[in-house]
Amino acid sequence: MEITILGIESSCDDTSAAVIRNTTLLSNVIASQAVHVKYGGVIPELASRAHQQNIIPVVDTALKEAGVTVDKIDAIAFTRGPGLLGSLLVGTSFAKGLAIANNIPMVEVNHLQGHILSHFVDLPDRTLPHPSFPFLCLLVSGGHTQIVKVSSPFDMEIIGSTIDDAAGEAFDKCAKVMGLPYPGGPVIDRLAKEGDSSAFTFSKPHVKGEYDYSFSGLKTSFLYTLRDAVAQDPDFVEKHKADLCASLQKTIIDILLNKLIKATKDLGIKDVAIAGGVSANSGLREAVAEAGRRRGWRTFIPELKFTTDNAAMIAISGYYRYQAGMISDLSIAPVARLEEIL
Ligand code: KG4
Ligand code: ZN
Repeated sequence: MEITILGIESSCDDTSAAVIRNTTLLSNVIASQAVHVKYGGVIPELASRAHQQNIIPVVDTALKEAGVTVDKIDAIAFTRGPGLLGSLLVGTSFAKGLAIANNIPMVEVNHLQGHILSHFVDLPDRTLPHPSFPFLCLLVSGGHTQIVKVSSPFDMEIIGSTIDDAAGEAFDKCAKVMGLPYPGGPVIDRLAKEGDSSAFTFSKPHVKGEYDYSFSGLKTSFLYTLRDAVAQDPDFVEKHKADLCASLQKTIIDILLNKLIKATKDLGIKDVAIAGGVSANSGLREAVAEAGRRRGWRTFIPELKFTTDNAAMIAISGYYRYQAGMISDLSIAPVARLEEIL
């Protein structure tokens, strides 16, 4: 049976809509919001307004590119949370309006589960490798860092998570300190390629939880290194930018890999995936692939277009939920925090 799902994502600063038929992606349109760059971070109120401007043309384009009219949509999947409440409200309200007007069921999607399920999307010209259940996913985004045991599209157990900052935040905040533009992750990734990753040493965390992370100590250590060095030489950052980026990136990757490897050993799971915005990082992608080669894992490194926020991942999550009859009530409201969803 053919199931066609429209996915809508609006949790942070990307407005996205995608159409999927079974697991095959027919379109995936993303409007990124340039309005935040000059502030060095996402301004929630500006994000909501930009979503309002973008949502109709983005959904319209996604439907047209897929060659699908609204009456052929079986369900509308939308991001319920976690994310910025105002941003989520735009996507949820739009999904509701479209659902009511066309008598189409709605399916709520947890944004983080969406990142993980992006590994099940296929492209029209080729199927992509899908992990087998249960697999472990290192979920690294701007707001979350978790190790998740995935037993089915709905059964996900967070076995470890950050106790303070997320890995993406560590990238973004350290980039800001160096005067680099937002978001800092991709810029650090690029600069790190020209630097020496052993040039600087930053402190690594000792977290009690077996699979838990912490990145705020690294951020502080980075900040102090810079402050002391700049006091001696005002041009320090400019002169050592590439080495600073390479060393910082290497430290973040080491921290991430250390606990991930421990989890795979303890749980005896050899299908290992990465997901979320930080999984676009070239150093992390290589490190996970290398760890997999050494340890006999099957590694699942997402296509770059599925790493940062996109609606394809919401549509595929919606596909599985719709098939399982997990339809949302029209009274559903978005939620900002993950704890309110689970
Ligand atoms: O998943 P995502 O798009 O949004 C959230 O759900 O948070 O993740 C955004 C995060 C930002 O912190 C951004 O700096 C980071 O992903 N990011 C990267 C790279 N591309 C995006 N971090 C490191 N290297 C990259 N290439
Ligand atoms: Zn995300």
